[in-house]
Amino acid sequence: MIPNRPRVRLTNGPTPLEHLPRLSAHLGGPRILMKRDDSQSLGLGGNKIRKLEFHLGAALAAGATEVITTGALQSNHARLTAAACAKLGLNCHLILKPAVPRDNVAYTANGNLVLNALAGAQVTWVEAKADSLAEMHALSTRLEAQGRKVWIVPMGGSDALGSLGYVVAADEILDQTASEGSPSAVVVASGSGGTHAGLLAGLTQRGFAGSLEGACVYETAQGQLGKVQRLTAETLALLDPDTPLPAGAVRCCDSQLGPAYGIPTQAMHEALSLVARLEGIYLDPVYSGKAMAWLIANIAKWSRDETVVFVHTGGSPALFAYPEIFLG
Ligand SMILES: Cc1ncc(COP(=O)(O)O)c(C=O)c1O
Repeated sequence: MIPNRPRVRLTNGPTPLEHLPRLSAHLGGPRILMKRDDSQSLGLGGNKIRKLEFHLGAALAAGATEVITTGALQSNHARLTAAACAKLGLNCHLILKPAVPRDNVAYTANGNLVLNALAGAQVTWVEAKADSLAEMHALSTRLEAQGRKVWIVPMGGSDALGSLGYVVAADEILDQTASEGSPSAVVVASGSGGTHAGLLAGLTQRGFAGSLEGACVYETAQGQLGKVQRLTAETLALLDPDTPLPAGAVRCCDSQLGPAYGIPTQAMHEALSLVARLEGIYLDPVYSGKAMAWLIANIAKWSRDETVVFVHTGGSPALFAYPEIFLG
């Protein structure tokens, strides 16, 4: 049950849950279903839309005119905040940081950056070592001095409020699989952690018996574990303070993280190409590509009569920031 919070609808109802027959057959393992959160109509789609329904719902309820958020230069969260603000008539301010050591034209002047400009967002670039939170608060103070009402969305939209968006997604997955039996596992990219935490809170609340596998794309499993555990507990507390988080439910694996966040790996390249060639679906190089590499590397965990749900969290505009990898 989703708590009664201000929410603005930015999705068009439940996203499809699609069977991927050619990928499943190729891998020779479980039946793979893909939750198509990349397919939403707003701003080229992606997981952040679900979180923004709650953040921007709260912003509108508070009478905000300005929204500030932050992310890496190629942040999908920033792109979708810009698109959602455009749709809602809010002014969007993005504080972007070169979190990935890439300075070619594709990375610094293509992909999500083009879409932010099209949506009319006001973009400020800060240095890699800048404190994004402090930068957002300083901008907020300046805007409020001009009489504006500001709402700050945290990096990645990842707090308990934003995670409620993925409680909704967990409900959708369980409802969509109800007639054929619950999946053995759900696999998702785990970055700032809100998607992972929201799914886990939602699945836990519904008594899901399978596992939720978080493929680390931002930091190592050790750091990710504590972050997701905290965020899941905070999200569960919003849903029902009496539902405990079962021991061992937070699962983070960093085997496909590679050298660091946003740095391509060979396994990501292969996974992304495989899904494009067998299913005509484009993953992204930073998040869903590495999560799919994790699923492929671990496919032997499940048998042919089991079902695994892969959450496609979007992000394909970032493909245009990494052209040299895919053009060879
Ligand atoms: C395409 C995509 N997938 C997955 C994630 C990870 O989601 P979260 O930050 O909630 O862990 C992000 C985060 O930016 C993303 O842009």
